[in-house]
Order: sequence, then structure tokens, then C-alpha cells
Amino acid sequence: MPRFTIHLVAGARPNYVKIAALCRAFREYRSAHPKSPVAVRVINTGQHYDYLMSKTFFRELGIPKPAEDLGVGSGTHADQTARIMIAYEAVVQRDKPDLVIVVGDVNSTMACTLVAAKLLIPVAHVEAGLRSRDRAMPEEINRLVTDVLADHLYTTSADANVNLRNEGVPASKIQLVGNVMVDTLLTNLARARTSGIHRRLALKEPYAVLTLHRPSNVDHDEDFLQLLKALERIQRRIHVVFPVHPRTAARLKEGPLGARIRALSNLQMIDPLGYRDFICLLDRARLVLTDSGGIQEETTVLGVPCLTLRENTERPVTIDAGTNVLAGKKAARIIKLAEAILDAPARRRARRPTRWDGRAAERIVTSLAKRYGF
Ligand code: UD1
Repeated sequence: MPRFTIHLVAGARPNYVKIAALCRAFREYRSAHPKSPVAVRVINTGQHYDYLMSKTFFRELGIPKPAEDLGVGSGTHADQTARIMIAYEAVVQRDKPDLVIVVGDVNSTMACTLVAAKLLIPVAHVEAGLRSRDRAMPEEINRLVTDVLADHLYTTSADANVNLRNEGVPASKIQLVGNVMVDTLLTNLARARTSGIHRRLALKEPYAVLTLHRPSNVDHDEDFLQLLKALERIQRRIHVVFPVHPRTAARLKEGPLGARIRALSNLQMIDPLGYRDFICLLDRARLVLTDSGGIQEETTVLGVPCLTLRENTERPVTIDAGTNVLAGKKAARIIKLAEAILDAPARRRARRPTRWDGRAAERIVTSLAKRYGF
């Protein structure tokens, strides 16, 4: 049987967490089917390139060394997307993959989907169908373009299936498989809990965790000022740990708002953390404040109260079935919600939305194996 080559594309930090589950599921599939012609090649676009944003995830999560490292780095959206496309097109023409798998909603996801679709190579999109209905978010554009072109749409929740059906995607292309980010979380949780990060940060409970990286929060002074006002109050009640994304770090380096956040005595700014350290930090947090998509999902599974610092979410299941609350971007509301959480007794409310059971990647591999006969 001729080789069946799959490209597994990743480029940014959350992508690595997702492909880790797929790499593992393919590894298990191959050991259960030693004669299978399937060969998986990891393609790293290099959208994220700092050690703490990329390589550490390969190492910690056992992701094989990429077959191709495109090294595209940062740029404007058009510039970064175009450079990924040019570099990836050359790889596809040389390698002639039979299938391309993309995950999530970053620029690399969309760029590689466009390349594959134009070269008539089937695309599977993992985490399809999520919609914030906010086209000011670059990720929403990436999701729309990727889903319209992909041949196989693997979803994390029933609302995503509804979104896709409403956009005219035939039911035969859509499958609710669960959440590969949760697969990675469940695989690593026991080890993560012994990471020792609390000792290394000299961190005492209770504490809150903060992450911020969305352009809509960090690039606009007015929005950032509201968050800052909320943080000024919250850190008086509870110690706040803030692993700072490079985009945010660049933004906070200069100017009065950066100086103001650095001056907060009970807010601890630290470098981005590796996977297990971060999960360990989340797991014991009293409260999480974030604008990340993945952290809304991880806190749901861990049962940790999460305030999402956005006006919308493409992950409503984390609100309906999980611990997430959409807090918006106004200081008064964020403070009120945070205080309500801190006033209430600390308790876990871990929930698992349908099929968030650690087997999503396995379902994807099984579905593709059946479809392509590998
Ligand atoms: C990207 C994704 C976002 C995802 C996030 C997770 C897009 C449009 N956005 O946002 O969906 O939630 O990753 O982290 O794809 N930088 C570094 N070192 C790095 C990476 C980035 O210094 O390793 C800095 C650069 O100044 C860069 C900026 O961060 O310009 C933004 O990076 P970029 O990849 O464009 O987007 P993110 O904000 O990281």
C-alpha cells in the first residue's frame, strides 16, 4: 500500500497543546496497526518562536521534531499570513501530502488551509465551527475562512455543529469529537500537579491568575485602562500572578499604563510558563481572569472560576456547562464579579461537556482512518 502522508500543522502556542494529543493518538494508532501506511509529519510555521512560546511545548508534550520549520515569525496579519503561505506552498509541492490537518484559529491555521485547498489537498479542521460573531477578532476571520474550505470539520461542542449547519455546511462533513486541548490536559494533569511551580514562585494560596494577550484588550488604551482599574482593586483582595505574553510585554514596556501595572504591589508579573507549570498554577487558583480561548476550556474542566475579559466568547459551552462568566471589559462589572467569587466559599465545580473525556484525538484518527482507508 502506498504511504499516506498527513501534514499536522501548528504555529502558535495553543496549537502545540492541541497537536500533542493528535500526535499521541496517531502514535497509538500506528502501534495498534503496524501495517498502516499512515505517516504524520509535523509542520511548524514558527508564528511563535520564543523558546517559552514554542520549543518548550515540543519538549514537555512529547511532540516529534517538526519535519519542517518554516520560521516565519511575527508581522502584520497580511505579511505573516502571506509568508506562511509562500513557505508552506513550497513544502506541499515537494512533499505532496494526502491530507492536511489544521487546528484552532490562528493565522497559521488559515494560511495553510488556503494553500492546501488551492492545491486540491483535503483539509481536516480540528476545533471547527466556533463563532464569536465578532469580526474585529482576527481569529473569527480565520475560523470562517478555514471552515468554508475544510473537508472534514471536527467540533468540540454541539453549538459549533449548529453554527456550521446554519452556514450551509453539509452534516456529512461535521463530527462532534470532543476537545483535543482537554485530551492533553487530562493526559498531563497528574504530572502537572507535581510541577513545583508554587515553590519556585514562592506562591501562597489563595491567589488569582491573570492572562491577557488579545489586541482588543492590550492594544487600546481605553480598554486597557478599564482592566487596569479592575486589577488595582482585585489585587488588594488577592495576590494576582500574571504570566505575561510577549505581545503584552512589548505593550507594557513603555508608557504610563505599563508603569501603573508594574507598580501594583500584589500583582506578580512573570515570564510565560511551560505547559505543566501553567496547568498546575491554574489548578490551584481561586480565580482566573483571562482573555484566552483555551483557558476558558481548561478552567471548565478543572472547575476553577473563570472571568473572561471579553464582550463575547466563541466557546459558550464553557458558560452553559462550565465555570466561565463573560465579564466584559468594564472595571465596575469585573470587580463586582470577582468580589462575588471571592466572597463565596471556595469550591470546585468541575464539569465535562459532552465528549470532553480525553478521547477526542482518538475519535479524529479513527474517523480519518475509516474515511481514507489507512
Ligand atoms: C496568536 C493568535 C491568537 C492566539 C495566540 C496565543 C493569530 C491572529 N493570533 O496571537 O489567536 O490566541 O497566538 O498566544 O494568529 N511575539 C514574540 N514572540 C513569540 C510570539 C509573538 O515576541 O514567540 C510577539 C511579537 O511582538 C508579535 C506579537 O507577539 O508581533 C504577536 O504575535 P502573533 O503571533 O502575531 O499573535 P499573538 O498575539 O501571539
